[in-house]
Amino acid sequence: MVKLQRTAAFLLTIISYAAATLDLPGNYSASSRPNEDGVADVVNVSIELLSIRGVSETKSEMTVDITMHTSWVDARLLEQVTRDTFFVGHIPSIWIPSVQIANSESGSHASNKALLLGKDGLVKFSQKLTTQISCPISLAKYPFDRQACRLQLNSFGYTSVHMVLVWHGTINGDIPTYHPEFSFSYAEQTSENIKTGDGEYSNLFLEVAVSRCPLRVIFRAMLPSILLLAFSYYVTFCHCNFIMINKAAPSANGHHVEETMVAQRVIECTTPDAERSLIIAAINGLIFIVIIFVAQMNFIDSPKSSAVSGLDVWLSFITAIVFVVLWHSVQLYFTQSNKKSSDKINPNDSCYVNKTTNMLKIGIPVVFVIFFVVYCGVYLS
Ligand SMILES: *[C@@H]1O[C@H](CO)[C@@H](O)[C@H](O)[C@H]1NC(C)=O
Ligand SMILES: *[C@@H]1O[C@H](CO)[C@@H](O)[C@H](O)[C@H]1NC(C)=O
Repeated sequence: MVKLQRTAAFLLTIISYAAATLDLPGNYSASSRPNEDGVADVVNVSIELLSIRGVSETKSEMTVDITMHTSWVDARLLEQVTRDTFFVGHIPSIWIPSVQIANSESGSHASNKALLLGKDGLVKFSQKLTTQISCPISLAKYPFDRQACRLQLNSFGYTSVHMVLVWHGTINGDIPTYHPEFSFSYAEQTSENIKTGDGEYSNLFLEVAVSRCPLRVIFRAMLPSILLLAFSYYVTFCHCNFIMINKAAPSANGHHVEETMVAQRVIECTTPDAERSLIIAAINGLIFIVIIFVAQMNFIDSPKSSAVSGLDVWLSFITAIVFVVLWHSVQLYFTQSNKKSSDKINPNDSCYVNKTTNMLKIGIPVVFVIFFVVYCGVYLS
């Protein structure tokens, strides 16, 4: 019974919507604005950001679903309805401000429209739009980038002398983003009058920003590269072993000071022999090839841009260091094998290699730490 009543009420509502026709005064003109000869008409605009459908780096655009609410007062429609009247679908042919999205890529597609006319001449018009906003996509900070796109609203044809657009209300909080890598960051509303050749136009801007989640790239490129570098460094520079040696240590025994033998752990570092340095050089060569492979796979997979991205800088740096280590280990191998084959050891060669080894051993971690700090400062800010 209750269900039947509800259905009936629902049907009545639909009928009343469908029957809501407006008898406009004979001298009403839909092509002239409410204050035709007077001050500028003020149109309140509010945007409901429903979702961010997608971000395309290649097309430099963002697709958004919005509902645009505009409201204004049309004094000519005063007392035209006895109560607030809702029109859905069939919009009466009254004056509606031509608010357009100026930077829409392929025109916006309006799917639903609704209009509310008040007894006091207040008109509220809402339409749901799906639109592509074109915006500059900058990948210089990829994968730590944030893309901000500005939706520009203005009135087509009416200069600010005739029509002024005003933001009404603020953007709702968290917006769903249907892009696997991006999430909503912020939305900012601003307004500005822009002068053009044929006058000054009232513009509203809505900046929508999305930020990329860098985790996928970190796990797939940055972390493997850093582990490979660490392995290469370890293999090349850490030939130190903990060994136990017996060492004489003074010990006080009554009035006498005696020397006793004490087992001590010391770190002994050696220069690898020829065979070992060949293995080291081979391992470094392999690591170098793997790192080049990782870098190439990521360059292929990352969005194309002419800018040098954060990922490019990272991978190039790590590749360069691994190359230096490889170069050094090859040099080490040649020095060691010369040492083996000839009885005469060229002291200059050996000295050079040892000096370089020590320099790189300290230099690489220092350079890496400096690079890491600068990198974080530049790309994570
Ligand atoms: C239209 O007609 C009404 C009276 O019928 C009058 O009050 C109003 O001023 C007219 N409006 C215009 C724009 O001529
Ligand atoms: C426009 O918004 C202002 C507040 O921002 C409000 O006072 C005014 O009544 C609104 N006008 C219309 C036509 O909705």
